[in-house]
Amino acid sequence: MASPRTINVALVGYAFMGRAHSNAYRQVGPALRPRLLPRMKVIVGRSPEGVAAAAGQLGWEEWATDWREVVNRPDIDLVDVCTPGDSHAEVAIAAAKAGKAVLCEKPLANDLRTAKAMLAAVQKAGVPHMLCHNYRRAPAVQLAKQLIEEGKLGRLYHYRGTYLQDWIIDPNLPLLWRFRKDKAGSGALGDISSHSLDLARFLVGEIEELAATVETYIKQRPLPEDPKRKGKVTVDDASAAVVRFKNGAIGTVEGSRLCAGRKNYNRFEINGSKGSVAFDLERMNELQVYFTDDAKNVQGFRDVMVTEPGVHPYIHGWWPPGHIIGYEHTFVHAIYDFLEAIASGKKAKPDFEDGVRNQAVLEAWARAARTKRWVRVAL
Ligand SMILES: NC(=O)c1ccc[n+]([C@@H]2O[C@H](COP(=O)([O-])OP(=O)(O)OC[C@H]3O[C@@H](n4cnc5c(N)ncnc54)[C@H](O)[C@@H]3O)[C@@H](O)[C@H]2O)c1
Repeated sequence: MASPRTINVALVGYAFMGRAHSNAYRQVGPALRPRLLPRMKVIVGRSPEGVAAAAGQLGWEEWATDWREVVNRPDIDLVDVCTPGDSHAEVAIAAAKAGKAVLCEKPLANDLRTAKAMLAAVQKAGVPHMLCHNYRRAPAVQLAKQLIEEGKLGRLYHYRGTYLQDWIIDPNLPLLWRFRKDKAGSGALGDISSHSLDLARFLVGEIEELAATVETYIKQRPLPEDPKRKGKVTVDDASAAVVRFKNGAIGTVEGSRLCAGRKNYNRFEINGSKGSVAFDLERMNELQVYFTDDAKNVQGFRDVMVTEPGVHPYIHGWWPPGHIIGYEHTFVHAIYDFLEAIASGKKAKPDFEDGVRNQAVLEAWARAARTKRWVRVAL
């Protein structure tokens, strides 16, 4: 076997996703043995002290504070964007223009027009691109996809996606960037419902139209720089939609960060004419499966542990059956698939085109909520 080539990576942003992606770059080579081995060249942030500490802790060779300079460095091959939504476009477009492969966190942009500009930039430059909707890479989600593609669920009738958290329930939580439309684009909608929508598109198909609502319950929060003063929350706390898919299925999608006791309750259920599947991220190694043609005396939902070779698509990197994997592995798998796509010259999915399609649904959702009408998803 030819020895793997190296691909030099620059990562922008060093907090939550910066840590998750760094962990994935560290693990992917030894675990999954991609044909392209990532070399963790440089991590970029705005604060010299913060980014220097992150470089040491997360395993990057160098650190820098000017992403523009870094994305234009000839020794950088791949740029990974782990910043809030308002900076995705400028970093990704500059990276594409410099001929780099681009991995971008979700949602692709804060609005459809910007998402389209990003897609146009990667297409014009002809560079590989991928959007980090990592939950597609949970083995149980891959099994759901396989069962649907094999026709095991029959005709699809329903998709029910819920993504619920409670981390913003304290009204004294400061006005972080996630509460500001200019930074985040939207609230629960783009932050977590975007994942449910991406899973809906991946598993069921394109969404044609929707009716929706959004609500902001905690309208003001303390300013991070001066907690005695408050600033306005300009995004939704909670959001819910009824959707119709092009293939005739209907569904509901709900996202909220105000659900007491729900930490990362990312679930979906899909019901078809021959059976159902249900997934719960907090029990992510399992897929619940029901088939209508099971013998009547044993009929019922069963929990399939998705850790068997031949079922778990990334098992070669991990452990014997039943030795479960976790949240961080979804990022290792996503980055592995991106590296393999670059090595083979094939498309990585989801890509910036999915980012545009997801954004079109998010935009239709916001419009439906504003107008209190059904809205067709338009690109
Ligand atoms: N895939 C997932 O499951 C998942 C989970 C959480 C967040 N996200 C996405 O990842 C992105 C980052 O979110 P996070 O949770 O890591 O946020 P975070 O606040 O934890 O980290 C953001 C990082 O970006 C840096 N940053 C902000 N503006 C910058 C700029 N203009 N230039 C350079 N650096 C800048 C910050 O200093 C920080 O290091 C967002 O798009 C978010 O939606 C995805």
